[in-house]
Amino acid sequence: MKIINVNGIDIAYDRQGQGKPLVLIHGFPLDHTIWAEVVPLLSGTFDLILPDLRGFGASASPDQACTMADLAADIAGLLDSLGIQQTALVGHSMGGYVALAFARAYPMRVRALGLISSQVLADTPEGREGRNKTAANVAEKGVGVVAEAMTPKLSADARIQTIVRALIEKQTPAGVISALKAMAERADCTDLLSVMQYPVVLVHGEADALIPIDRARAVEAALLQSRMFALKNVGHMPMMESPQETAEALKVLA
Ligand code: MLT
Repeated sequence: MKIINVNGIDIAYDRQGQGKPLVLIHGFPLDHTIWAEVVPLLSGTFDLILPDLRGFGASASPDQACTMADLAADIAGLLDSLGIQQTALVGHSMGGYVALAFARAYPMRVRALGLISSQVLADTPEGREGRNKTAANVAEKGVGVVAEAMTPKLSADARIQTIVRALIEKQTPAGVISALKAMAERADCTDLLSVMQYPVVLVHGEADALIPIDRARAVEAALLQSRMFALKNVGHMPMMESPQETAEALKVLA
């Protein structure tokens, strides 16, 4: 992995393949390694940029709280360092919230957008309260509480559960708490959908136990240019549960 200091924070990223740039943004509380199985399927089509969001993986974990806009600014700073002005961006779940914040802040830099297992809605008041309780729990007991609660909801596949549990357990409490707060405070992005002037791809597992597929169908209905890929027998981790179908869907962004 390479490290670049962006906005005063060391951001780690991997870069693979050749073609038009495509940034793949991981979800919560994971890192860029979730893309491992789609990378070889996409590296002949795209110049893949695979960051670890601040607080995750090999990126630094600052103590102060951050917002989705800060995470989007980290992506913009990384792209500046790489000399990339415009790009396609794909976000998985929380990574989708970051991609949407990027699309809001830097609309001219987006060539195409992909949302995998994500949504445009903000948290409900109850959802926000749940995030704050989880953050307090993580501060007291560590990230194991999140690994325990989330793993069964990410995928029904035992092999994938083993991988994601270990991945969650590697993350730092500071990074996890900061992302929980950023998700709790994120804005509703429904207003962006009617002004997106670029292609959008939606990839969603029909068996997603964390974000129901109806949320993606509602996004599709509100968009001008979109393709929706509903994946059968797939949960919240399409890039791991069905890498082939996920890669084929993302090739629409080439
Ligand atoms: C994710 O998978 O990134 C998160 O579960 C999304 C969320 O909690 O809203």
